[in-house]
Amino acid sequence: MFDVNKIRSDFPILSRQVNGQSLVYFDNAATSQTPTQVIDVIIDYYTRLNSNIHRGVHKLSQEATEAYEAARKTIQQHFNALYAHEIILTAGTTEGINLIASGYTSLLNPGDELIISALEHHSNIVPWQMLCDRTGAQLKVIPMTAMGTLDMEVFDSLLNDKTRLVFVNHVSNALGTVNPIEEIIAKAHASGAEVLIDGAQACPHIKPDLQVLNADYYVTSAHKLCGPTGVGMLYGKEALLNKLPPYQGGGEMIATVTFEKTTYADLPHKFEAGTPNIAGGIAFGAALEYMNRVGFENIAAYEAQLLDYATNGLKNIPGLKIYGESPNKTAVISFNVEGIHPYDIGSILDQMGIAVRTGHHCAQPIMDFYEIPGTIRASFSFYNTFEEIDRLEAGIRRAVAMLQ
Ligand code: ALA
Repeated sequence: MFDVNKIRSDFPILSRQVNGQSLVYFDNAATSQTPTQVIDVIIDYYTRLNSNIHRGVHKLSQEATEAYEAARKTIQQHFNALYAHEIILTAGTTEGINLIASGYTSLLNPGDELIISALEHHSNIVPWQMLCDRTGAQLKVIPMTAMGTLDMEVFDSLLNDKTRLVFVNHVSNALGTVNPIEEIIAKAHASGAEVLIDGAQACPHIKPDLQVLNADYYVTSAHKLCGPTGVGMLYGKEALLNKLPPYQGGGEMIATVTFEKTTYADLPHKFEAGTPNIAGGIAFGAALEYMNRVGFENIAAYEAQLLDYATNGLKNIPGLKIYGESPNKTAVISFNVEGIHPYDIGSILDQMGIAVRTGHHCAQPIMDFYEIPGTIRASFSFYNTFEEIDRLEAGIRRAVAMLQ
């Protein structure tokens, strides 16, 4: 069944040394590591297939196009989208959000309202502020609680007939909170609003069923899911994507071009101007296949054990405070030790070969809420072990002894 040592042997980077110690990689929420099965697909692409897609009459182009479109189909099936053309391949989550924000410029009016949450990453805040600046729409915020969850009573009171769009992350990158997106989507729809879910931090841990969720838009990045950087997915319901204007003009997104008038290609190509990250798209499909072979139920069960073990170990360290204690959270622990700057602990852990992220995690409003400059964040993946968590706990104790 689930054999973590066998899984670890798929990830060459996990056997490297860092500062004279074997690497402990706990920065999975920033980017996940890549298994040989995905690295080989990228090597194979540049070794056998490298060419441009959707353009060539020649064999290489045809084979590369088939592999790229097969990956789109794999992504569609993984997320259970109704049609493959509802999957737009992007440069990542940030580009997917900006594509939608740009598209709504011509669809909003002054006085329209948009709702985001206090738990958002900057990439799900700033594009909507820019959209409000362009259109005169107003941004409202669902506040957070001290536990790091959303205040859903306030959400109910923010919804009204002026609400056009609601944007929420499925999982908070800074705290690991799993947000009640089913409830948010149902309530927003009842109020006539559309919903975009930022799934960047959820997809490594949870397999979303987009038809069951009934989200209007869902965005994610391949590099959080054992795939390469620079590629991601924007899912949108066909009817909504058809209403949106194109994001970028260029090759591949047109039907006809004359100097008088250009008509646009059908979905998904309307939103895919220019030569895409072809190897990346194909590798995204391979990464999903890899993770499905490991199995999302196995991943969730094992990571829940890692989270429990780490939470119980870390909370015994004197002065250590954990931020984000939602009963429903993914395997992320954000913490500080009283009187010590997060950067100092992070740097000492690095000397011990332990990789964590420190800082505001691109979520400054969460740090402002807790009145802290940042946290130390240990984010776990299915290839991490209990022994590595022991090393983290021992490393924090040693760092605290050195710094206090
Ligand atoms: N959004 C990524 C993180 O949380 C980069 O680290």
